[in-house]
Amino acid sequence: MAGVGTIADAVARTGRADPMIPRRFAITRVRQDTRDTFTLLLDPVDGGDEMTFRAGQFTMLHAFGVGEVPISISGDPRHPAPLEHTIRNVGAVTRALVNAPPGTEIGVRGPFGTSWDAADARGHDVVFVTGGIGLAPLRPAILDVLAERDSYGKVLLLYGSRTPDDTLYGAQMRRWADLDGVNVQMTVDNAPHGYRGRVGFVTELIGRAGFDPRRAFAFVCGPEGMMRAAASALVSRGVSPSRVRLSMERSMKCGIGLCGHCQMRELFVCVDGPVLDYARLEPLMDVREL
Ligand SMILES: Cc1cc2nc3c(=O)[nH]c(=O)nc-3n(C[C@H](O)[C@H](O)[C@H](O)COP(=O)(O)OP(=O)(O)OC[C@H]3O[C@@H](n4cnc5c(N)ncnc54)[C@H](O)[C@@H]3O)c2cc1C
Ligand code: FES
Repeated sequence: MAGVGTIADAVARTGRADPMIPRRFAITRVRQDTRDTFTLLLDPVDGGDEMTFRAGQFTMLHAFGVGEVPISISGDPRHPAPLEHTIRNVGAVTRALVNAPPGTEIGVRGPFGTSWDAADARGHDVVFVTGGIGLAPLRPAILDVLAERDSYGKVLLLYGSRTPDDTLYGAQMRRWADLDGVNVQMTVDNAPHGYRGRVGFVTELIGRAGFDPRRAFAFVCGPEGMMRAAASALVSRGVSPSRVRLSMERSMKCGIGLCGHCQMRELFVCVDGPVLDYARLEPLMDVREL
């Protein structure tokens, strides 16, 4: 447990001279993924190196004059430039970020937090369970697994979205299924009349999915209620709680263990997380956000 520390602790942990000062990046491209979700591609304009990261880490993105928000990096850790973030427009800062035209400069602090560490699952079946925008923080871990596909057993991606139109990275999921041997199963909460796909919650897919729970690792990302239900269904099927990893979202201000905004009892989600195993999280998941 890292806990609230000093700026010196944060410097030591992040390896950055001042982790509170954003680096300047320019938005080089904006891709619209769904009605309300956009992927921003960023390149540094300060003459410095590309920002390397580990799958699961997040940055603090700063829209100058508006505010700063935590956003997971959604790109490939082996190809960190341009830096990718997939953002759902829900409020003031995310709206400013997704509406900024190419060329706009924004601030980036990070990368911060823990990793999915998907390599721990080598030799095991791997089950990714996700919903909606939750696929974005998981994408780097999926790419890590697919980069060494032969080192893993079965790879499943169970994905749920609100409606068919809210499906994120649809073309990419089809490629993972067709070319990379990923068993992709999709479902939607609500569908228009005549829709031929599966309708229901993503957690309902877990009971029947074809993996061996005794040798499976699971990586789960989505709204907290969905993650709680998914983790519980995985454990009921026989997956060890220590092999179920979740990415927690909590209100964050500093991102480096100084302010306490992200606290879940003894954990600080920005430094002890966001990726944590369910064995550790389960007793804390009733702690309300500050
Ligand atoms: C570690 C981490 C990684 C994240 N990664 C991503 C990501 O990859 N892509 C992405 O789109 N978002 C991500 N988020 C959520 C993102 O930070 C929030 O959506 C953002 O802070 C909202 O700020 P805002 O000013 O636009 O909206 P606000 O005006 O602050 O809020 C607008 C609405 O969004 C809700 N909201 C605020 N914060 C969150 C949150 N953390 N989770 C869910 N709802 C929230 C509020 O309750 C309110 O209803 C992540 C959050 C964390 C903690
Ligand atoms: S301690 Fe400040 S966001 Fe975690």
